[in-house]
Amino acid sequence: MALPKAIKKFTLLLTAIALIFNVYIYTYPSLNPKQCSWRCFEQDAKQGQSNLIFSYFNDILHSHDDKNPNDVKLMALGDPQIKGIWANTPYISRLDTFGNDYYLGHIFRTMYNRLKPSHVVVMGDLFSSQWIGDSEFFNRTVRYTKRLFNRDVKWLYDLQEEHHGDDGTYKVNWVEWADNLNKIRTGDRPMNFSFGYQDIYNWTSAENYLFINVSGNHDIGYSGDATYQHMARYRELLGKDNYWIEYNAGTDNAWRIIVLNDLLLEGPALQPELLETNWEFLYQLFERKFEGSTVLLTHIPFYKPSGLCYDGPEFRYYPEDYQREPYKSKLLRSQNHLSAEASNRVLNLIFDAEKPGIILTGHDHEGCETVYNKDDKGNWTASKTTDPKNLNIKEITVRSMMGEYHGNTGLVTGHFNEATRQWEWSFNLCPFSIQHIWWFTKVVTIITGFLWSSAFFF
Ligand SMILES: *[C@@H]1O[C@H](CO)[C@@H](O)[C@H](O)[C@H]1NC(C)=O
Ligand SMILES: *[C@@H]1O[C@H](CO)[C@@H](O)[C@H](O)[C@H]1NC(C)=O
Repeated sequence: MALPKAIKKFTLLLTAIALIFNVYIYTYPSLNPKQCSWRCFEQDAKQGQSNLIFSYFNDILHSHDDKNPNDVKLMALGDPQIKGIWANTPYISRLDTFGNDYYLGHIFRTMYNRLKPSHVVVMGDLFSSQWIGDSEFFNRTVRYTKRLFNRDVKWLYDLQEEHHGDDGTYKVNWVEWADNLNKIRTGDRPMNFSFGYQDIYNWTSAENYLFINVSGNHDIGYSGDATYQHMARYRELLGKDNYWIEYNAGTDNAWRIIVLNDLLLEGPALQPELLETNWEFLYQLFERKFEGSTVLLTHIPFYKPSGLCYDGPEFRYYPEDYQREPYKSKLLRSQNHLSAEASNRVLNLIFDAEKPGIILTGHDHEGCETVYNKDDKGNWTASKTTDPKNLNIKEITVRSMMGEYHGNTGLVTGHFNEATRQWEWSFNLCPFSIQHIWWFTKVVTIITGFLWSSAFFF
């Protein structure tokens, strides 16, 4: 039986639509090649105006050429905030959450294949809530690892085999972790937190880039929420919250990455001793007197007055008579920025070598660029403009990769300028589009596939 003509026409139309949308979602960076590529320091001057169609095809053909193999190519992804699925979650929201994982994964895969980064960093708030149990934390880590970043999860399941509760789901042994930390703190064990690394380009030889998680308030809580349990499971499943990696130390092109958990710098905190070890990290870092450029990766942005970025300064505290959890009375409930005082201290501890650098943060979702100008007395002032007289460091608040914000990827290119013998850092933001376009493409593709296969069967 031949299919009615109308259905044939409809199938052809749908096929055309599916093709166009698939081409779009797999090549979207080429529509915006300047924003969606590493910065090419030498070639910028040469690039003239060319029309969109020419530059699109030119980009598809040439985007894989590695023009500057010695550059640092760091891909920064802001606040994915993947949600959970509960017993009472309606089916439509479950589907939405499921699709969202793959939407975010699509952005990573497309950008990864295009740009072959040397480093991939998620700027904190990997998950949507700090008030989840260990089993849910584990399940989200598995989704995050596998669906978003295409990484191996076997080690996670092996770990669950060892650390689980009576029902067989993951349960962190935070008591052991806390004991160990406190032995170090009180001097029973040497004050060695193993904060530092040298010249690390991957964690396993199977990978050719370095994957970095930054801890956000939704992963471990603000300091008024953060418990040993939060910290222990984050450390076990997602890695250290504070460390540095030094590259080419001792040479004139030395540079380093600092991963800083800046949620545990200010209180009043639930576990004040966690603040103590966090500051200890910064002091040990300072003591290294590292001579080189710094890329600082942290979640909460530095202090700035209202009007410079979307978020103004804000600190909230739990009320004195907090009925639900009385032990949190008056503790730090949330913060938009670090305080002015903490910002100054941290910037002075990290950027003491007067070398250029860059700061990447997350948290506000909207994204922003701010310059911190240092004066002669060591005070740092946030501004939209650069004061050329003194050291200034740019802070990029990376716009979120969530669909509502159009699925962004931040691209940091670090280039060692042979003439000035200094590192130069620059940032591009590459947007995709809202999640509905991706959904639409998938649905139309499935329907088209179904129509074609029924055409064969009937
Ligand atoms: C996590 O996933 C496992 C396996 O799918 C499931 O049995 C468990 O209930 C999940 N945990 C939560 C809190 O939903
Ligand atoms: C970050 O988390 C992912 C997912 O669990 C993991 O594969 C990776 O090893 C973590 N990074 C570090 C430095 O531990």
